[in-house]
Amino acid sequence: MEVSVVIPTYNEIENIKPLVEDIADQLEERSFEIIVVDDDSPDGTAEKVSNLQESWGFLRLVERKKMSGIGSAHRRGFREAEGDLVVQMDADFSHPPRYIPDLIDAVEAGADVAVGSRYVEDGDRQDPLHRRVFPLIGSYLYRYGLGFPVKDFTSGFKAYRKEVLEEDMDNSLPDGFHFQAASLLRIVEDGYDVREVPIEFEERRAGDPKYSHMDLVKNAGFFGKKFLERNSKPIKFGAVGATGVAVNTSILFALTEIYDLFYLFSSAVAVETSIIWNFLLNDYWTFASSGEDSLRSKLTRLGKFNSVSLLGLGINLSVLYVLTEFAGIYYLISNILAIMAVFIWNYIGNVAWTWPE
Ligand code: GDD
Ligand code: MN
Repeated sequence: MEVSVVIPTYNEIENIKPLVEDIADQLEERSFEIIVVDDDSPDGTAEKVSNLQESWGFLRLVERKKMSGIGSAHRRGFREAEGDLVVQMDADFSHPPRYIPDLIDAVEAGADVAVGSRYVEDGDRQDPLHRRVFPLIGSYLYRYGLGFPVKDFTSGFKAYRKEVLEEDMDNSLPDGFHFQAASLLRIVEDGYDVREVPIEFEERRAGDPKYSHMDLVKNAGFFGKKFLERNSKPIKFGAVGATGVAVNTSILFALTEIYDLFYLFSSAVAVETSIIWNFLLNDYWTFASSGEDSLRSKLTRLGKFNSVSLLGLGINLSVLYVLTEFAGIYYLISNILAIMAVFIWNYIGNVAWTWPE
């Protein structure tokens, strides 16, 4: 078998016959099968498909008992598929069958996965603006927040080399719509060759969409989780820095107001205490797995952290001074810019020197 096409359906009775017909036209020169995975659609999609099976031997039907999500439906179809190459698509004509040969060509030209993409050159989508906004924002977040190389990460129109599915599709992936992003992210992380092929995404032909606000929330939650996972060290480092500011301020206040010390002297004590505080938190938490446990190597790391931090303090004051005096920027704004510069310096300096991998 050369090609399997997997189509999840829930209430697609009006679309399914013309869709299967169009797909068959696109594939007539190959050996192929079309697998419909239906979740007991109340509109009778499954009965319709079994009637069509009488004249179309290539048409297969998987009937599931209840609506269990587009992601789990795809995985079920993938398990059934016998083709060397597997295409996944929606049943509502949003993924026009005329692009199936382009997806297949891309895999035959060497890609492991071909993604039908709305966001590459010549790609487009015809559906209303309000349905495009979130995927477009998402696309930027994935690209710049996760360094994700695929522009259309939620696309449900793809062709896979069979081995990729055997390797990467298991039930730890989500069942709902965020399956699309989650599975592709895993495929990219595993180093497969993923290529985007331009498609024009069209308005659903008949019936109602199933994507809900809850699915949007789940998609956003998935992104948030991945973002935290990928950026856990700088986020923890920043959180530790924030507690350090609180420690610094409290000591400065206490020594000056309660013990009547000169404020610059209080500040020196406050700075050094907060550096040690930050070091301990970062050593036990942010960079927990790097570095040896002996007292000696801990002290060495403290020394390095201290040097980076004191240099950072110097950078802070210099940037604040230069931006305020020479660039004429309001000093509180300069201070924020200075803090950002120091954060970057401290983070990079300590990753490279204090806690190298
Ligand atoms: N079997 C089954 N079970 N099929 C389902 C289920 C389910 O729980 N939920 C949805 N489907 C089917 C629909 O019948 C349709 O064929 C396809 O999955 C897509 O559903 P739509 O309701 O048309 O969703 P959409 O147009 O918002 O989805 C598009 O955008 C998503 C996110 O950008 C598609 O491209 C999706 O593949 C994509 O994930
Ligand atoms: Mn749709």
